[in-house]
Amino acid sequence: MPQPRAQQTALVHSGYTPPDGFRGCAAPIQRASTVLFENVAAMRERGANCQDRSAYTYGLFGTPASYELEARLAELEGGAHCLLSPSGLSAIAMVDLALLDRGDDLLLPDNVYSPSRELGDWLMAKFGISARFYDPMAGAAVAGLIRPETRLIWVEAPGSVSMEVPDVPALCAAAHARGVTVALDNTWSAGLAFDGFGHGADIVLQALTKYQSGGSDLLMGAVITRDPELNRRLGLAHMHLGFGVCMEDVYLVLRSLPTLKLRFQAHDAGARQLAAWLATRPEIARVLHPAFPGCPGHETWRRDFRGAGGLFSVQFQPQYQEAQTDRFIDRLRLFGIGFSWGGAASLCLPYRIQHMRTGWNTPGQLVRFNVGLEDPLDLIADVEQALAGL
Ligand SMILES: Cc1ncc(COP(=O)(O)O)c(C=O)c1O
Repeated sequence: MPQPRAQQTALVHSGYTPPDGFRGCAAPIQRASTVLFENVAAMRERGANCQDRSAYTYGLFGTPASYELEARLAELEGGAHCLLSPSGLSAIAMVDLALLDRGDDLLLPDNVYSPSRELGDWLMAKFGISARFYDPMAGAAVAGLIRPETRLIWVEAPGSVSMEVPDVPALCAAAHARGVTVALDNTWSAGLAFDGFGHGADIVLQALTKYQSGGSDLLMGAVITRDPELNRRLGLAHMHLGFGVCMEDVYLVLRSLPTLKLRFQAHDAGARQLAAWLATRPEIARVLHPAFPGCPGHETWRRDFRGAGGLFSVQFQPQYQEAQTDRFIDRLRLFGIGFSWGGAASLCLPYRIQHMRTGWNTPGQLVRFNVGLEDPLDLIADVEQALAGL
């Protein structure tokens, strides 16, 4: 006979066990900081960390739902390992901190996502790591910049504001010839439109905040690798930095994954329709969309990519001043003014590209569109009425 327990103990330790055999379509989520071991020997055997995802040790390092999301993201990118982190930016920081030591050199594309650039400057000031910026269109010519102490080269395909499409295979070949690791921010392609590992990257990063979430309502990042040793080094940084993720957010991303490709294709079609219309407008000097001739690296996009997603930029004719294009954005009704992309609602933002990208010598205000999932004809009508205000 089990000993009767005090009411307070029963409130903590319930004798209830759910019946076996339940299966739903959605993966269940388990919230946990503490993970319980079967016995002390199991606890001692597993230790505090479980890098190979074969068991559970502590909520910070994973639950069945986070292991599943990691495995599915690795599969999507053609990788073997994946580590989740609390945002896309934290995933970038994890890569930098895992692979760089004092005295090492880091190369970043000059059009890199701005917080990644600021992180490079911060690493330089704080840890004596040199961060230098290269022309994203350099391709094989990046070889001329590599120093004996260069350890890591980041590449963004394409840059998420200037939309320049780099020659990733040429850059990777140059880096690998000198033993340098290449990390690719593949967020624009959502792991669908560009095969990062197939084109030579060693590490593929996704800001799951964008398309994988699709809801503009959570932050998460993923770092995917093929090489176990790279994954081990990244896993150490992941553990030391304590990069846990919220299981509800993991659930939301798992829930969004089945529709990822359908949504991405709809974003792509809508963006191309709006971009094609903008290309006919007298107010627009340049459409910076990788699938459109005239975008730097368009030929590389044609060679290497399978799609485009919803993000592109335009440059207005030089006679329009910043105050005018700001007013254009303010007049838009269907496009929110806000950072990020990949959600259902369209967004629009101005960027001072001439201050961001060295040597950007085409005049004209740059405006970036994130085309959501609205009817493209309504979006075109909205942009048309806002242009009329110019
Ligand atoms: C290209 C790119 N990479 C990474 C990130 C970082 O993602 P997060 O917002 O989840 O930190 C962003 C965010 O806008 C981005 O545009």
